[in-house]
Amino acid sequence: MAKVKPFIIGTRNSGEFLCAGAEILRGGGSAIDAVEASTKLVEANPKDDSVGYAGIPNLLGKVELDASIMDGKTLKTGAVGAVKGYLHVISIARMVMEKTPHVMLVGSGAELFAKSMGFKKQNLLTKDAKEKYQSFLKRYADLPKEGEKPWYVNYDVDFGLRDWYDKLTDKQHGTVNIMAIDAKGNICSGVSTSGTAFKFPGRLGDSPIIGAGNYCDNRFGAAACTGRGELAIRLSLARSLVSYMKNGLSVREACFRGMKDINELHEKGGMNCLAIDNKGNTMSASTSRESVHWYMDVDSKQPEQRTGIWVKE
Ligand code: GLY
Repeated sequence: MAKVKPFIIGTRNSGEFLCAGAEILRGGGSAIDAVEASTKLVEANPKDDSVGYAGIPNLLGKVELDASIMDGKTLKTGAVGAVKGYLHVISIARMVMEKTPHVMLVGSGAELFAKSMGFKKQNLLTKDAKEKYQSFLKRYADLPKEGEKPWYVNYDVDFGLRDWYDKLTDKQHGTVNIMAIDAKGNICSGVSTSGTAFKFPGRLGDSPIIGAGNYCDNRFGAAACTGRGELAIRLSLARSLVSYMKNGLSVREACFRGMKDINELHEKGGMNCLAIDNKGNTMSASTSRESVHWYMDVDSKQPEQRTGIWVKE
């Protein structure tokens, strides 16, 4: 197979976060290092309210982060979910992959692991995100009065939760997907998110679930998802996209087929995917909007916007 010029792609903002990863690839670094470095920039960005710092909190006002990373050479992977108080969950996920016999740690166990690996605890809830939470509480429930039980104790989870989740779910997702191929032809894919805004505490979306929100295999390519994570979990979407490529579909056809699969669920909430094949072709797709992604290779001066496909039905 012809050698692919090392490159990195991602789904978010204007792609400027790819510069860090492209620089690593330019210096001969690994796809894993490139993906981690670029993802960390998105996690640290205070203007991004659905990944890392400044993420919108859960129902109880706590920021809970999920992330995963996968090495396409070895199919080793690491993931963390529902992590509170640690910013760089992509790096914690990488440590899970490299330092433990496990693939996934969640909640207090993931936090204990992060602490033991030397990660520093910090407050991730910004003033802006807190205000959004307060305004959410005003819209959807009465704030607890002094001496009363907190509102969520009385909240009608059986019915209310489904209703407001459906209402919010089109707008309140955001996740970063980043993937790279290095000079050795190794592929890595990474995903990081604060998940659905105001999610039920402990709710995991697709991002930390390997096969759902993230999958990577040097022999075929990589895929990752953003959108209503529950749908990607139900379809094992990222792994399905890679399997479509394994079975001979192009990366474009695989993305198209994956979004058709989502549409056939007839559920609320959009889905988006980003994918590459091992020949260096890239694609993104969405069920709900024009799809774009950003590309940088080792010769790029700046991120290049690439257009994906909108699969409406
Ligand atoms: N796709 C991100 C989430 O559902 O949490």
